[in-house]
Amino acid sequence: MKIGVLGSGDVAKVLASGLLKHGHQVKVGSRTAGKLADWASQNPRGSVGTFAEAAEFGEIVMLAVKGTAAAEALSLAGERNLAGKAVMDACNPIEDAAPENGVLRFFTGLNDSLMERLQRQFSSANFVKAFNSVGSARMVNPQYAGGRPTMFICGNDAGAKETVSGVLDQFGWETLDLGAVEAARAIEPLCILWCIPGFLRNEWTHAFKVLHA
Ligand SMILES: NC(=O)c1ccc[n+]([C@@H]2O[C@H](COP(=O)([O-])OP(=O)(O)OC[C@H]3O[C@@H](n4cnc5c(N)ncnc54)[C@H](OP(=O)(O)O)[C@@H]3O)[C@@H](O)[C@H]2O)c1
Repeated sequence: MKIGVLGSGDVAKVLASGLLKHGHQVKVGSRTAGKLADWASQNPRGSVGTFAEAAEFGEIVMLAVKGTAAAEALSLAGERNLAGKAVMDACNPIEDAAPENGVLRFFTGLNDSLMERLQRQFSSANFVKAFNSVGSARMVNPQYAGGRPTMFICGNDAGAKETVSGVLDQFGWETLDLGAVEAARAIEPLCILWCIPGFLRNEWTHAFKVLHA
C-alpha cells in the first residue's frame, strides 16, 4: 500500500520504518522537513514532505502527532486529502502538564475522546484508533515470551478497521476490535495505565495482552 504518515516524532518514524520493512511505500509529513532529514537518509526507500503531501500520497494515513495539535495537523493535511481514507490514529489527548504520581492528565473527560472530536471535525475520513497504548520501541514486531500482544482498535468504518488490522498483523499484533468511535473513550486512557510503571519505576517495555478462555 501507499501510506502517508503524519508526524516527525518517534512514533511516526518507527511506524514509517516498519511499513517500509513490510514492503509498503511511505511518505512522512511534517511542518518542518528538516526534522525528518536523518530518518530520510536512514530510510532511502521512504520519502518526506509536508502534512498535505503525505496525506495526499497515502491510500491510507497514519496520524502520530502531539494530541493537542492533532486537529491542527489534520487541517494542514487538508480534509480533501483524507476523504474516504482510513486514518489510523495513534494520538493521545495528553495535557501539557506533569504527571501526578505517575498518572498523566488528559484534556478529555470519560464521556469524550480525542478521536471522537477528530471524527466529528473531519467527518469524511475513517478514523481507527490503534498504537496509542504501547511505547514506540515496541510497536513493530515486538518479541514477548507470552506471544503476540493485543492491540485494541475502534472506529466507525469496517473497511478501514480491516485495513488497519492487516497492518497490525504484519507488525506482529493480535487485534481486538472494540466497536465504534466511542470506544476511544476506553482505549485512549490505556495510555495513562501503560505509562504509570514507566513514570514510577522506569519500566517502558510492557504491552497489553487479553487472555481468551
Ligand atoms: N512516544 C510514544 O512512545 C507514544 C506511544 C503511543 C502513542 N503516542 C502518541 O503518539 C503521538 C505522537 O507521539 P510522539 O512522541 O512521536 O511525538 P510528539 O512529540 O507527541 O508529536 C510530534 C509531532 O506533533 C506535531 N505538532 C506539534 N505541535 C503542532 C502544531 N501546533 N501543529 C501541527 N503539528 C504539531 C509535530 O509537527 P512537526 O513535525 O511539524 O514538528 C510533530 O510531527 C502523541 O499523540 C502520543 O501521545 C506516543
